[in-house]
Amino acid sequence: MFAQLREDIASVLQRDPAARSKLEVLTCYPGIHALILHRLAHRLWHANWRWAARLVSQFGRWHTGIEIHPGATLGRRVFIDHGMGVVIGETAEVGDDCTIYQGVTLGGTSLYRGVKRHPTLEAGVVVGAGAKVLGGFTIGAGAKIGSNAVVIKPVPAGATAVGNPAHVVDKTANKADKPDFSAYGVTRDMDDPIAKALHALLDHVADQDRRIDCLSKCLKEAGLVNNPQTDCQKPLDRDLLDRIVD
Ligand SMILES: CC(C)(COP(=O)(O)OP(=O)(O)OC[C@H]1O[C@@H](n2cnc3c(N)ncnc32)[C@H](O)[C@@H]1OP(=O)(O)O)[C@@H](O)C(=O)NCCC(=O)NCCS
Repeated sequence: MFAQLREDIASVLQRDPAARSKLEVLTCYPGIHALILHRLAHRLWHANWRWAARLVSQFGRWHTGIEIHPGATLGRRVFIDHGMGVVIGETAEVGDDCTIYQGVTLGGTSLYRGVKRHPTLEAGVVVGAGAKVLGGFTIGAGAKIGSNAVVIKPVPAGATAVGNPAHVVDKTANKADKPDFSAYGVTRDMDDPIAKALHALLDHVADQDRRIDCLSKCLKEAGLVNNPQTDCQKPLDRDLLDRIVD
């Protein structure tokens, strides 16, 4: 138990630049207190002392602002930073070396008892402040969930998911290769069907604009049209669209 505590404290010192000493981490970090109390509650839960387990968990919530159901499984060196408002559901599993910031919910969307309703975080996942991960799916090892994201489907290992509903950001995409009207952070490879549809529509509109410009130029050069009304009066506002799709 003390070895595990030493390990927890070391992981906080490693991951929080604001942490200065072991004593400070032991006494002033609610995430550490929540882990200690959760381990006790989890043992009681599996020894079938369900009410006692819930009571310990409830005490942990009063003391730290972090609510961890005693049935939840937490790995080693899990770091809950700040912690206030964190909720971890009964069937959630949090892998080794995960980092969870304040206001995170690892929640469920189904009311069925006895089934896996809450997410699994594989090792090394980082869940940003205020993010909600809802459902019994898996967030792959080393994935990052952006602050305030609402994640409702699995995230592959190593990926970064942001937004509501969360979509995977393709950080390898080379922006220089993107067509004229691709929105930032949105690429053809992404899973999000709405982003894909918007992307296709923007490309289509950009292509049509180019063709119409070309046709107008030809007509003008041929002296067939002198009416300025044929020029595009309201060109596509790329920056605005980028911001909206982002
Ligand atoms: C998601 C996160 C992990 C990504 O970090 P990163 O790997 O360095 O990625 P980047 O900053 O390069 O961002 C990648 C893209 O996602 C966007 N993005 C990043 N975080 C976002 C968020 N929370 N919501 C929406 N979009 C976000 C960026 O604008 C960028 O888009 P672009 O490619 O179009 O420019 C990070 O932004 C984050 O939210 N961390 C949580 C931090 C936190 O909760 N801290 C609390 C401390 S108390």
